[in-house]
Parts: sequence; structure tokens; C-alpha cells
Amino acid sequence: MASLDALFETAKAIQARAYAPYSRFKVGTAIRTPSGRIFAGCNVENAAYPVGSCAEAGAISAMLAGGESRIAEIVVMGEGDVLCTPCGGCRQRIREFASPDTPIHVAGPEGIRRSFTLDELLPFSFGPDNLSDR
Ligand code: THU
Repeated sequence: MASLDALFETAKAIQARAYAPYSRFKVGTAIRTPSGRIFAGCNVENAAYPVGSCAEAGAISAMLAGGESRIAEIVVMGEGDVLCTPCGGCRQRIREFASPDTPIHVAGPEGIRRSFTLDELLPFSFGPDNLSDR
């Protein structure tokens, strides 16, 4: 299976495990690291609404827990017909571990709907470099 297919299938499988009883909007995310490993996460909501976390945050946490810290490619899969682009906070979370040209694929159950680079979704971003050359 080509690596993007594997990433897509992983995002779809983890989306089914999302805990989203309040929004009823399940999201699955799969990250491929430069070594080829895949890490996944889903959104986890909470009765105290603001405490819920996004799928991207879960996938990034799994990546770090697995001993990796660079995102080579990422798939975000939501529900419905509208493109499930990462929320603003998650664009910033991805930015911490990715490059401007890192592909972010937005998917629905039928496949990849549209692909962006990180720089397209978060131009002129603030990142670790802003804190390193002081
Ligand atoms: N959600 C994500 O998991 N990722 C995003 O980038 C957008 C939103 C989740 C959060 C919440 O559980 C549900 O989708 C509805 O906002």
C-alpha cells in the first residue's frame, strides 16, 4: 500500500474511535514521520466542554510518546461534506513539528479531498525560530 493510502486508512480507522458525544463530529488524524512510522489520534470530548482535545493533538502526543518529533505528512479526516481543515490551534500545534512545505491532507471517508502545505494554512507563522535567535 502506498504510504498516503496507509495514512488515509489509519486516519479513517482512528476516526471511528473518536469520543465525540457532544458535537457528534468525529475526527481522525494520522501522522507519518520521516522514518516512515505512522501515529494516530482522535478527538476526545468532555462533559466540561473546553477540556476536550482535538485529533491532531492526540496524534502529536502519540508521535512524541513513540520517540519521534517531526511530521513529514499528515491526514486530517472529519465528517460531513465541508472540508475539515485543522482548527487554528491545531495549525499551530502542527507547525511546531513540521516545515512550511509539509503536506496537510484533508480527507473525508471517500478519500483525500484537498491537500495544502502548512505554509498555506498558517502563513507568516510564529515558531521555535522566533525564540531561538535572541
Ligand atoms: N476537531 C478536531 O479534532 N480537530 C480540528 O482541527 C477541528 C475540530 C474536533 C474538536 C471537537 O471535538 C469537534 O471536532 C467539533 O469541533
